Amino acid sequence: MAHRTRIFSGIKPTGHLTLGNYLGALRRWAEEDQHRGEALFCVVDLHALTVEHDPARLRRLSRQTAGLLLAAGLDPAVCTVYAQSHVDEHTRLSYLMECVATDGEMRRMIQYKEKALRARETAQGVRLSLLTYPALMAADILAFGATEVPVGEDQAQHVELARDLAERFNHRYGPVFTVPRATVPPVAARVMDLQDPTSKMGKSHASTAGMVHLLDEPEAVARKVRRAVTDSEPGVSYDRELRPGVANLLEILSSCTGKEPAVLAEGYAGIGALKADTAEAVVELLRPLRARHAEISADPSHVDGVLREGAARARALARPTVDAAYEAVGLMAPA
Ligand code: TYM
Repeated sequence: MAHRTRIFSGIKPTGHLTLGNYLGALRRWAEEDQHRGEALFCVVDLHALTVEHDPARLRRLSRQTAGLLLAAGLDPAVCTVYAQSHVDEHTRLSYLMECVATDGEMRRMIQYKEKALRARETAQGVRLSLLTYPALMAADILAFGATEVPVGEDQAQHVELARDLAERFNHRYGPVFTVPRATVPPVAARVMDLQDPTSKMGKSHASTAGMVHLLDEPEAVARKVRRAVTDSEPGVSYDRELRPGVANLLEILSSCTGKEPAVLAEGYAGIGALKADTAEAVVELLRPLRARHAEISADPSHVDGVLREGAARARALARPTVDAAYEAVGLMAPA
């Protein structure tokens, strides 16, 4: 089994990407992960079908997400960027994962519970694929023999499940899969909503006031950060439990500047100055990303080409492992 570093991660095109996606995942993929071994980054469009969706919007968002991966600095000469639906190995292996996982395990997933609760409130009900989502996600990771899965904190539970499924499969059927581990960033692993700092900044949040989108105009970014909900305590201190709004700003600023949140806190007498500096830091962080995205989206055929080549490469990498898994469970090899 492979012991060299192999990295896999994915991003769901269910909405416009947020500062949470960037600080928790994307930026690290570009700055560090792609250079640390064989690395694949996937627009996981099949995962976007687990909740109500509009086909035209999904297509638009998928292309935009791919463009943003490139704008963030993922280099197709260094890593593999592709769309999940272009590589059949994901769904081929997902079925085997469903045959290894239990229904209780799936129902325990926090994201399932949260999203199912929301979906139940709509007339359309909960899609079965929302429940089996972690089986597909495990397949995404295991098909490539990934050793590391760089994600934000909210995805750690799903990666943990992928580990469990890999170990269980190997134990039952023989050593086919590499057991992966999640890596989360030291700060900003869970960027919170600026208007509701006790809940995660997420693409599918109902209100956008507390969410910074990567393609927001600089003025909008600054406004959202300056209007962040904090508290009425005097001064600035770093305490995630008692002062979640202030802690969120400190973590965002920390992620932008590389200085520890608690050290940053000592430098501020009031929240106004912290908000102003954080707003400026985020605007400057996103400025080059927006500019590169504008260039990249001017040439859609470039993105299409990257995805086409990426899919061919991903298919070739995944195929032997998925074939080995099919054989290991007792399915006949095709004659
Ligand atoms: P997704 O699309 O919700 O998010 C993509 C990445 O961004 C991280 N992230 C955050 N990090 C910090 N703070 C936030 N507020 C925040 N919001 C999102 C996520 O943790 C993630 O790393 N199920 C996955 C996609 C997926 C996947 C995979 C990931 C499918 N298959 C295989 C890794 C490996 C998801 O919905 O991420």
